Amino acid sequence: MSIRSKYPFSRRVSGTAPSAVREILKVAEQPDVLSFAGGLPAPELFPAEAIAEAAASVLATEPSSALQYGVTEGHAPLREWVAARFTGQGVPTRADDILITHGSQQGIDLVARAFLDRGDRVVVEDPTYLAALQAFSLCEAVPVPVASDDDGLCTEALGELDGAEAPSLVYVVPTFQNPTGRSLAASRRRDLVRWATARGVPILADEPYADIRFAGEPLPPLVAFDQDLVIQLGTFSKTLAPGLRIGWIRASEPIRKRLTTLKQASDLHTSTLNQRIIARLLETFDFEGHLGRVRETYRARHGAMHLALQEWMPKGTAWTRPEGGLFVWLSLPPGVHDLDVFQAAIARKVAVVPGSPFFVTPQPRGHLRLSFGNRSEAHIASGLRTLGEVVRDLAAKAERTNVTKSHASAQSLAP
Ligand SMILES: Cc1ncc(COP(=O)(O)O)c(C=O)c1O
Repeated sequence: MSIRSKYPFSRRVSGTAPSAVREILKVAEQPDVLSFAGGLPAPELFPAEAIAEAAASVLATEPSSALQYGVTEGHAPLREWVAARFTGQGVPTRADDILITHGSQQGIDLVARAFLDRGDRVVVEDPTYLAALQAFSLCEAVPVPVASDDDGLCTEALGELDGAEAPSLVYVVPTFQNPTGRSLAASRRRDLVRWATARGVPILADEPYADIRFAGEPLPPLVAFDQDLVIQLGTFSKTLAPGLRIGWIRASEPIRKRLTTLKQASDLHTSTLNQRIIARLLETFDFEGHLGRVRETYRARHGAMHLALQEWMPKGTAWTRPEGGLFVWLSLPPGVHDLDVFQAAIARKVAVVPGSPFFVTPQPRGHLRLSFGNRSEAHIASGLRTLGEVVRDLAAKAERTNVTKSHASAQSLAP
């Protein structure tokens, strides 16, 4: 008897596979494995003491409200802090424009459910963030992939979609994207917003990494180009700590009202205690100084990874040079498959994430996502040396196979 017939799961759930990367991470995060797989922030950067003090202060001074149910929209002082930050970045924002969420992942889920019915089309960068694809699949939506290059989603290709049914949503990670580390160029940001707004299509701009810029100049947030149809997500996961599960949505009133209703049905509101702990922390904590340390740590780790890749990767390998975030995206030499690299590397206790699950369109070339955030520079140097050996061996094998094949076909052509 199949599971489907024994348990009457919904069509939505039956049609959605568990995340391939989450399964890989279970192996990768074993203690004896040197992992570049998970997108985990560095735990030594969590401001644990300051959070402990803020938590003690909240529980001493306002235990009744901190442990009570709260309003769905979120804790007012926290909404004010987030709004002031947008305003400081040139996007005038009121506290009322903000809805506090359980991480940006909840923002993706709410927006997906607000806009996507069965069969609706959602434009995504190819490759894109896997858990967003999962949220869209749970709405039975159809991802419409648009290729990306070093400047992010290729906006020139959007015109090709015009002949088909209009999409219901565009999803992008504009800055230091997961999995590629690439950023959408300023002119493409403008072009993307123009294209979508001219067609009345909302854009979900997911920005968990934008604050972790360690090189180059800041790019304008998508919401700077349109405040009605651009829905912007943010989070404290990569700047403070992901375990707090606090993020936000900035959206125009009609959209925000729908999202608030959906959130009521989903979880009533975000943890009152965690919201108040962060709000209290931000009253006294030097957040900008802390961000400076976060950026400096990741800058050094990215530098170590780039150097190690230069030293150990064979000819035919290429990789991105992000100006922030946590990820480098590596393109493998021709004929080398990402799953083979994953398996050979894990046998030598080094973990990486194969790139194929991030693509909607299957690719002829193999890729790996490498996270530099959560290992020391020394670990990055030694782990990438092993990875380089693995890729070199597989590249040599692929080349031998290729030579044998072309030799055989040359012989079969011989008169
Ligand atoms: C692109 C992207 N969006 C959303 C998330 C989820 O973040 P949060 O912890 O805020 O839910 C992640 C986490 O890695 C991510 O990479």
